[in-house]
Amino acid sequence: MLTKRMEKELNKQINAEYWSAYFYLSMSAYLGSEGLAGGANWMRVQYQEEISHALKFFDYIVERGGRVNLMPILEVPKAWNGLINIFEETLKHEQKVTGLIYNLMDVAIEEKDHAAKSFLQWYVDEQVEEESGVQTILDQLKMVEGKGHGLFLIDKDLGLRVFVDSTKV
Ligand code: FEO
Repeated sequence: MLTKRMEKELNKQINAEYWSAYFYLSMSAYLGSEGLAGGANWMRVQYQEEISHALKFFDYIVERGGRVNLMPILEVPKAWNGLINIFEETLKHEQKVTGLIYNLMDVAIEEKDHAAKSFLQWYVDEQVEEESGVQTILDQLKMVEGKGHGLFLIDKDLGLRVFVDSTKV
């Protein structure tokens, strides 16, 4: 059984994951309208990842006999300044999410909830991958100064990303 505090914090994270999903879907729409179809695809896959993260929390709360509380999703930004800016904002956002996951882990430790600690470790590891993947793309974009033939090739690469539900593997 989850403590009330643990349940509340896990529910807050469901909302944060849905906000992230909206954030990336909005980026996908922006990039699509800027003619960057590859980037739009990458962000759409990122959106799907965030939904899978939210659902993993959802399923866990139910599994532990808790109550899911789906709260309103606040509005997300809708305009950025090119692909470098998009990936800078993505990295900043993922660093923020890492902080949220660490806070959740702190709560699990304080509540002596060893099961939640074990569950949250998946997200701790996932965040390492998320930050590193985004940093790599950002470095590449900076190498080509976010323009010209280099941008064309990177955008083509971003178009190859496909959604794999890592919560199930
Ligand atoms: Fe749900 Fe991008 O971390």
